Amino acid sequence: MSLINKRAEQRNAEIISNKKVGAYHHMVFAAGDMAAYCRPGNFVAISVGGTGSSMILRRAFAIYRASDRGQYGGTIELVVAPHGQGSRWLTSLEIHDVVNIVGPLGTSFGIPTEPAAALLVGGGYGSAPLFGLAEVLKERGCRVDMVLGASSAGKIYAPLEGKRSVNSLTITTEDGGAGIKGRVTQVLPGLIDKHGSEIIYSCGPMGMLAAINEISSSLGLLHQCAVEEAMACGIGICMTCVIPVKDSSGVIKMTRSCIDGPVMDGAKVIWDSSRKVPQGTWGFNG
Ligand SMILES: Cc1cc2nc3c(=O)[nH]c(=O)nc-3n(C[C@H](O)[C@H](O)[C@H](O)COP(=O)(O)OP(=O)(O)OC[C@H]3O[C@@H](n4cnc5c(N)ncnc54)[C@H](O)[C@@H]3O)c2cc1C
Ligand code: FES
Repeated sequence: MSLINKRAEQRNAEIISNKKVGAYHHMVFAAGDMAAYCRPGNFVAISVGGTGSSMILRRAFAIYRASDRGQYGGTIELVVAPHGQGSRWLTSLEIHDVVNIVGPLGTSFGIPTEPAAALLVGGGYGSAPLFGLAEVLKERGCRVDMVLGASSAGKIYAPLEGKRSVNSLTITTEDGGAGIKGRVTQVLPGLIDKHGSEIIYSCGPMGMLAAINEISSSLGLLHQCAVEEAMACGIGICMTCVIPVKDSSGVIKMTRSCIDGPVMDGAKVIWDSSRKVPQGTWGFNG
């Protein structure tokens, strides 16, 4: 049975920056030595609403960047979409406000032992963990190409400094407001062919990840994806985040995406379960 990320801790963190960038807020937190243990793909769970709030569930956010040096000691950066009540509360906070953070949580992206050609695919704020990953892959001598997609231009998060860590960046928008009109999956086969991609890393909505996995499976490519299943506790207790995944012996098990994920082997996820427990799943008697 998997356990919580052994580096996870809970602490109060001061907000040192909160800037609106397109549809998102880029937020920086003074997180002390927690930052030293964050790896691309890990996430944090933040308490929202303040003392006495009825919003008892923490909200999960992928770590965009973490640095263990600088003026504020360790910092953690997030890209937050003001979406529902909790994320709107978070993005409304000001510099010097303090939030309670649990992290780093979950699994991180695996890095190839030998230099490889990697294609990173992000949907919406799903691009957040990919820039830190791109830096690590580049340090390992990998070729790194990136595709970012969203419904419209304002929902693409592609910071200038991030662009420097990739060999090429392709943008797709469904309304054609920026880059190529359409979805990321339309451009993937051509880019894989052009760049000789050997491994795909992805993060974004589940439908997008499923469509990417169809392409990676048909071409026999490795696919590591960070799934975004709704999480109530984020620390392995409540079982709301389970998805069907094959284990190493091929048995399907309902697997907690907060503990065994969010980064998973795309080939092992049962993508077409339509949010039902598939027949043959371990322990299922339906
Ligand atoms: C691993 C991970 C990484 C994420 N990274 C980012 C990121 O980088 N940036 C970003 O903007 N957002 C990210 N999100 C989404 C972010 O957590 C959501 O915006 C947030 O959970 C919704 O909260 P809200 O305050 O916006 O909405 P609200 O409506 O106030 O909150 C909804 C709450 O209910 C819970 N919930 C909803 N449906 C279910 C369900 N079926 N079962 C159990 N609980 C449920 C949610 O988890 C949340 O706690 C991520 C989510 C996950 C799981
Ligand atoms: S979110 Fe509670 S077990 Fe995963």
